[in-house]
This record gives sequence, C-alpha cells and structure tokens, in this order.
Amino acid sequence: MQVLVIGSGGREHALAWKIAQSPKVAKVWVAPGSAGISEIAECVEISASDFRLLADFAEQKRIDLTVVGPEGPLTLGIVDEFERRGLRIFGPRKDAALIEGSKVFAKSFMKKYHIPTGFFQSFDRAEEAKRYIQEIGVPLVVKADGLAAGKGVIVCFDLPEALDAVKKIMEDRLFGDAGERILIEEYLEGEEVSFHALTDGDAVLPLASSQDHKRVFNDDQGPNTGGMGAYSPTRAITEPIQQQIMERIMIPTIRGMAAEGRPYKGVLYAGLMIRAGEIKVLEFNARFGDPETQPLLLRMKSDLVPLLEAVVDGRLRDQTIDWMPDASVCVVMASRGYPGPYDQGALIAGLEEAAAEPGVMIFHAGTSCMEGQILTGGGRVLGVTGLGQDIQGAIATTYRAVKKIHWEGAHYRTDIGVRALAKAS
Ligand code: AMP
Ligand code: GLY
Repeated sequence: MQVLVIGSGGREHALAWKIAQSPKVAKVWVAPGSAGISEIAECVEISASDFRLLADFAEQKRIDLTVVGPEGPLTLGIVDEFERRGLRIFGPRKDAALIEGSKVFAKSFMKKYHIPTGFFQSFDRAEEAKRYIQEIGVPLVVKADGLAAGKGVIVCFDLPEALDAVKKIMEDRLFGDAGERILIEEYLEGEEVSFHALTDGDAVLPLASSQDHKRVFNDDQGPNTGGMGAYSPTRAITEPIQQQIMERIMIPTIRGMAAEGRPYKGVLYAGLMIRAGEIKVLEFNARFGDPETQPLLLRMKSDLVPLLEAVVDGRLRDQTIDWMPDASVCVVMASRGYPGPYDQGALIAGLEEAAAEPGVMIFHAGTSCMEGQILTGGGRVLGVTGLGQDIQGAIATTYRAVKKIHWEGAHYRTDIGVRALAKAS
C-alpha cells in the first residue's frame, strides 16, 4: 500500500520512518516533509493546510491511507474532506478535533462529563476577566481559547502579570482570533505526563507512557516551548495510575464525545497533572505529541500500520501493541533564540557521525537542504532519539550522539530524563 503522512516536523519524520518499515507498505509520501524526511520518503510540496490539494493528490496517486500529524489541518476539517471523497484518513473530524481547537469547549465538556480537571471560567470581555482575577487571586493560568501554536498559555504568579496576560491576549490580540475568548484556570501543581491512546470511537488502546520537558532551560526554567525533549516510559504512570487514567479520563472522554454527536477517531493525547495519586487533565490534543512520538515510536515493536488501519476501519477492539522493554530518550536541539524569534540557515555538522551511534535515530524537526548540505530551518531543529536498557542507558546513548552535532547557536537541555533517574533511585 501507499501511505501519505501530512506535516514536516520531528513527529512526522518518526511516523514516516516507522510506517516505512511496515511490510504492508510499498511507498511513503510526506507533504510537505523536510530535508531529513526526504531521505526515507518522497516529499511533496503541498502545504499541510491546503487539504483540497492534498485530497487531489491522494486521489491521483491512489493513496491507501493518509496520516495527519499536526492539529491545524484537523481543526480545519481535512478528515471531513478526505472522507467526503471516500479516502481513508487517520485523525478526528473537525467537530471532534474541537477538543484541542477550543479550550473553552474542552473544559466545558470535561465539566459536563465529570472528567477531573481544575476549575475554570471563560470570558469574552477583558473587563470581566480582570475583575474575576482580582477576586480569586494568584496563582492562576490565562489561556487563549483557540490554537496558538502552544504559546497561548500564560502561567501567572502575581496579579499584575495576570492582568497583563488578559490585556495581551484580548486587547493587544497577541494570538489574533484565538484570543477572542479566554479561560482563567486553576493553577495545577504536580508531575506532568503525556498519555496517548488510539481510538476508533469505541475501543480505546493506550500507548506506552511518556513525559515531555516543556520549559526551554534545564531544571524546568524559562518560557514554555513546544517541547525540548521527552522520554518513555515514565514511572509516574504505574499500572494502577494507568487504570485510573483509562477509567476516569480516556474512556469517559471517548464515550462523552460520542454522546455529544462528535464521535472521536484517531489518537487522543491527554496532558495530565499527577499529584499524590490524584490525576487531572490539563488539556486534550487531537494528535500525536511532538516530541513524545519520537521516543514512543522508537520503542514500538508492533507494526504501526495495521493499528492505524484498525482505527480508521473501526476494528481496534482486537488489537494489541508490543513495546520493547528498553527505554528511549529524545533530546531536542534548537536554534539560537528559540522559543522566541530564532536564527535559520546555519550549517549543521556531525549528523552522520551522530547517526552512526548504535540505537540512535535522528529525526528532523526543522531543517532544509542546500547543495547537499543540511541547514537549520526551524526553532526546533533535530530530535536526537536513542534507546538504552533503561533510562540511564538511553540518556547516555542519546547525549553521546547529541555531542557530535554542531552548529552556530545550537542549544539543548542537558537534563532530559534526569527526573526519571531521581525517581528510580
Ligand atoms: P496547554 O497548551 O494547555 O497544555 O498548556 C501548555 C503548558 O502550560 C502545559 O503543558 C503545562 O505545562 C502548562 N499549564 C497549562 N495549564 C496549566 C494549569 N492549569 N496549571 C499549571 N500548568 C499549566
Ligand atoms: N509535546 C507537546 C505537544 O505535542 O503538544
């Protein structure tokens, strides 16, 4: 079969890499892809948001399965368009992707279906939001309702900061239309984990556990990013915790979405906060996490393609997933300036030496190719991902590879996975 992956980041590189290993697959296409992805799949120059052109392409090439990476096209209705044309596609429809596309919808949904989450209020007028902040005091979290590339969340520890967050989002329109409505939320403390499950709208099949590192600097300092590294598995998710997550969060969410007339198919990714055994949902995403997908897929023994097909065809109930007992770690190498305005076009050295390390895969998050040379082309540039017998081994493998890669202004965290070690001891 032929598979089309949509997107261009490290997540899509990992998906294309894993899908290409399936004995069922003759060819993988990626739109638009990247310099790194073009080494393992054929890239097509169509933007991930141009879903009519993408569907035309899938028809012309007789693509058997399309897999959507980022949330943008999902919330715009790419799945609806493909399904209308009788094309098989992995991901939720527009009305179900709203669980990520509108934070107000997601929180109201959780409240209605008694899914554990922090308290919240939504506002479409800045004055009322500011009054509410004065009333409840800090700490609190101010969020733009719509998609804001992971940046529409401001955690506030003092009052002027919180009032300023409302001004930035609603009055200065920092995130455009995404900030027409805002949420003010309870600040949750604890350990943050990423929980992914495949679902065909009925059966819910969890993936291995993983943990992201959102802050840009070591020891979780500095501003939030799209994710500076991740590892799998995490000890924060024990067997009983996993059971609770399935019974109290994932299954009720899938049942609730069906009851709302918004049946959910694809992968559901819950960002969770765990504190003293109590689990609360921070947010839902309608797609695979990035970078989490990189360490997850490195550990997945099963063929991913029959699993994706079972989701699309509504046959997930009979499926299981095998994982390597090994641990995996992904370290994101970023451009100077990221997560703010960042440099581009720096020449990357050492990629081949790093890739030669046993147990290492280098996924490209933002690169371009010029005259055979690989240049930086995004904020997050590479996801260097390695396996080890345990987390300590995976950290050692991965950083050995990271240290072989250089470019002007490269930066990365040196403590990915270290929290897991502290727990293990
Ligand atoms: P979100 O896009 O809603 O996941 O928010 C991005 C990041 O902000 C999360 O991964 C958390 O690290 C942090 N965050 C979001 N909501 C809260 C909250 N209610 N309490 C504490 N931290 C939060
Ligand atoms: N790793 C965070 C995200 O994919 O949203």
